[in-house]
Amino acid sequence: MRNAIKNTRTGYGSVARWLHWSIALLFLAGYCAVYYRHWFTEKETPENWTALQLHLSFGITIGVFVILRVIWTAVNDKPEPPPGKPWEHHLAGLGHFMLYFFMITMPLTGYLGTGVAVEFFKLFTVPKFEDTILFQVLVVRGLGMNFEEFESYIDFFHKRSGRYLVWVLILIHVAAAAYHHYVRRDNTLTRMLIRMNPETEQ
Ligand code: HEM
Ligand code: HEM
Repeated sequence: MRNAIKNTRTGYGSVARWLHWSIALLFLAGYCAVYYRHWFTEKETPENWTALQLHLSFGITIGVFVILRVIWTAVNDKPEPPPGKPWEHHLAGLGHFMLYFFMITMPLTGYLGTGVAVEFFKLFTVPKFEDTILFQVLVVRGLGMNFEEFESYIDFFHKRSGRYLVWVLILIHVAAAAYHHYVRRDNTLTRMLIRMNPETEQ
């Protein structure tokens, strides 16, 4: 079906495509903000703070979009994978699963382990986790930890994964898309692209 909003057995609908590319752009923006902060700003300057707040805002936006994406994926058909051997399908499935895993855990651990409130694109403020009732109930009473102890575990996961794993996984994913497009010459990439003119849909 052309220009479908929902997925079909043969391709992704427009909502899945927009969510995919919006989240991909937000990942890029979040990475640029945090490493701009690390590499090009001095500590305790306004630029340093703005870059951090941009990272937090992009990250929170990813978290919201991912909730929508998981719900949308759950209520939609899964497009058939392109022809391939069973191990290739398993590997692609594992790759997509890992991408979802980090799309969910990175915003979550980012929020839980941050000791400052998020000035969401200067529009409104999201209170820091430490200031919420959930923190008192789950962490202080439940785990018997203070924020510093809790933060050290959460930060370890967030920073190590962000620095060493997530971008590598995304690069492998992009390489797989390029392989399908240029070597296999199938429609794996084109069926994920956003078409401005749906009549040209393949
Ligand atoms: C998919 C979403 C996210 C990704 C991929 C991501 C990735 C990263 C990366 C790569 C770093 C730098 C690690 C390092 O080299 O030390 C980082 C640091 C950090 N992230 Fe995230 N993050 C995400 C979401 C969030 C969110 C939602 C928050 C908080 C609301 C957050 C808070 C932080 C903080 C406070 C740091 C330390 C800042 C710094 O070292 O300059 N992140 N994150
Ligand atoms: C330039 C960057 C990217 C390209 C070229 C790209 C390309 C693609 C393509 C062609 C597909 C369809 C695969 C299929 O039908 O089997 C796909 C699916 C997928 N992509 Fe990407 N992608 C990019 C970035 C990302 C990023 C940053 C993430 C998340 C961190 C991501 C997560 C996913 C997931 C989870 C799927 C599985 C389908 C779904 O459930 O939405 N992609 N991508």
